[in-house]
Amino acid sequence: MIERIYLNRDWTFNGKEKVDLPHNAKDISYNYCNEADYQFISIYELEIFIDDKYKDKHLFLTFEGVLHKSDIYINDIHAYTNLCGYNKFKFDIKNYIKFNEKNIIKVVADSNENLNIPPFGNVIDYLTYSGIYRDVYLDICNEDYVKDVFVKPYFIDNNWKADIDIYLNNIIDFNVKILFLNEIIYDKDIKANKEYNNVIIDFKEPKLWDIDNPNLYKIIVSISDDKYETDFGLRTCIFKKDGFYLNNKKIKILGLNRHQSYPYVGYAMPKSMQELDAKILKEELCVNAVRTSHYMQSHHFINMCDKLGLLVFIEAPGWQYLGDEDWKLQHLENVKNMVLDYRNHPSIILWGVRINESKDDHNLYSKANEIAHSLDNTRQTAGVRCYAKGEELEDVYTYNDFYDPFDKKGLSKKENICSKNIPYLVSEFNGHMFPTKMFDKEILRSEQALRIAKGMNEFYSNDDITGFFVWCMADYNTHKDFGSGDRICYHGVLDMFRNPKIASYLYSSLGEKPYFNLSSSLNIGDYDASIIHGIYAFTNADKINLYRNGEFIKSFGKENKAYPNIKNSPILIDDFVGNILETKEGYSKKASDMMKEVLYATLKYGNKMPFKYKLMYLKLMLFHHINYEKGYELYSKYIGNWGSKETIYKFDAIKDNKVFKTINLEKVRKCHVEAKVSSNILIEENTYDVALIRICAKDQNDNILSYYNEGFKIKAEGGIDIIGPNILSFKGGYSGIYVKSNGKDDIGLLKINTQIGNLEIKFEIKR
Ligand code: GAL
Repeated sequence: MIERIYLNRDWTFNGKEKVDLPHNAKDISYNYCNEADYQFISIYELEIFIDDKYKDKHLFLTFEGVLHKSDIYINDIHAYTNLCGYNKFKFDIKNYIKFNEKNIIKVVADSNENLNIPPFGNVIDYLTYSGIYRDVYLDICNEDYVKDVFVKPYFIDNNWKADIDIYLNNIIDFNVKILFLNEIIYDKDIKANKEYNNVIIDFKEPKLWDIDNPNLYKIIVSISDDKYETDFGLRTCIFKKDGFYLNNKKIKILGLNRHQSYPYVGYAMPKSMQELDAKILKEELCVNAVRTSHYMQSHHFINMCDKLGLLVFIEAPGWQYLGDEDWKLQHLENVKNMVLDYRNHPSIILWGVRINESKDDHNLYSKANEIAHSLDNTRQTAGVRCYAKGEELEDVYTYNDFYDPFDKKGLSKKENICSKNIPYLVSEFNGHMFPTKMFDKEILRSEQALRIAKGMNEFYSNDDITGFFVWCMADYNTHKDFGSGDRICYHGVLDMFRNPKIASYLYSSLGEKPYFNLSSSLNIGDYDASIIHGIYAFTNADKINLYRNGEFIKSFGKENKAYPNIKNSPILIDDFVGNILETKEGYSKKASDMMKEVLYATLKYGNKMPFKYKLMYLKLMLFHHINYEKGYELYSKYIGNWGSKETIYKFDAIKDNKVFKTINLEKVRKCHVEAKVSSNILIEENTYDVALIRICAKDQNDNILSYYNEGFKIKAEGGIDIIGPNILSFKGGYSGIYVKSNGKDDIGLLKINTQIGNLEIKFEIKR
């Protein structure tokens, strides 16, 4: 390629509107949307002028993603048909072009869900949207050009090498350069002897790619000024029956499933938002892997996974259903395109070659495996199932393990799912087994976290399970057959705006950055019968010190780890009394201990208290003069927490003997609104840019107001527009706003007016 011209601007949509890409042919409401609304045929037209100087060039028109069947016409001549909404496709338009004149590219994009292509044919638990939703560009290549380059790193005889496949369109000499941090470390002219050439390179001082140091090399293969450029990483990856090995080092793969959808605009989000999801996964949720359920996702997202060291399990499009022979041929085509298009990404460690949760099909999946293996001998294949003992055609058995963790069965035993010698991975967990809304009551929100923690705990104690991908990263819009009736599956550990649910605290606590959050705001009225048995601290602190009304109660540390196989297990805090009956109420140690046991037994059993405790109470009455009234008073004061003076709790998170965060829980006295902006600078590189503003309502101690659901207004001025409505509401204390640059000004202002305060957020737009 000698030049890339982006074609993301100024398309005419359905003969009327001017639109920029990524484009969603029909925006949808946040919930209660209708999948019928986006199923139609859209026409996109773009006028391009191609200079005479390109006459002898190849002009590869490239679409990164169009939903779902697209027919491309150049100057009214049909030039190409693509039958997948999730792949990149390109073709040479030079024979259709009139040079030094205007040309019209027309895209007829069919987003009907009755198309005979994956994922369609039956129900699907996600929306499939419409439009040209990824970048479009023209790659201009010389007459002689480099068609493709595939870098295959390996380690042999104590040396790191890369085997490089180079595909040319003609037998012509070429040059190979390899760079690390812009420094050329290899530069050689090579005599081509075929259209396919193979070059082996030794790396004397290898800088490996791994999850902590994701070093990236760049390779440039050129024929005069025509260059093929791609990043790659030096790394090996292999799943064995006892674990996953990255550069020969065993790593437990902790991942989340990701859908590429966003509120209102569906799949149509530009680079920065794709990148943000990768950053959220790695930096906020501290996982080391993601599964691109259930299709190939944007290169912008995967590039960021490469940069951050986030492992990727990528998958061909589909959901449970297998269609007729044509449909199956398209699946094989999709597998082929997936491997060819993504195989230089070091983050990708596994090809999902089976339609998610589809039944066995020997012929189809033998071929799918063969295709992936023949196009890439450096990675293994997988096929996601929701049933045990499927045909083991893939290299790794990947299983959606949907059990109810509280039925005490635990994670399924590998031996019950697949054979002993095949590597095994849990590709989904929890999800629809326990949907959780931001505005659910606390016990439910915290149970989502605990269910995941239980699965995670077993995963970490089990060498048989190479990876554990929970369903899923964020809530998503879905079809009527799924979700909560409002077209949302509330399965995420984040909401649709990527705001944190309690389950996300579990993930955030796994990182290195000091982290502490609680599963509860300790409001008894939110609990059945006003009983809170215990709460959890999600933290990487050494211990949590609890104070009640200024009195030290207790330290909770290692011995309180509820799920000890997890590196930073949630800490159970289940004693809010400590020694206070002794220190504050003046009882002897013996009486205090006994009284505390009786009080907690009252909480646990109510008037069905076992005889043992009744006897204790009798002893307290007889020997320590605690009568019924006094017992009731102590219960109300220390356990029930009502009727007496306001109880104020303080939790100090301590690491290396220093308090790094304090949580104060007391009556809400003052509310305010806060915003977290993904970036105040919008960069119009090849199209418009978008920022996410995550907003939340907090009390005077910076605790989230979990039931703050008020409405509020927003207004955009200058260089930004709001995506979605300008009247919004908080949902469980959180909300979100996307703004996009509109090209009208270099400065944009977002005004947020809520009942609990106003915010003004300024954006700078760079072009
Ligand atoms: C799985 C499926 C996912 C999602 C999940 C919900 O069966 O693969 O796409 O629907 O269930 O828990």
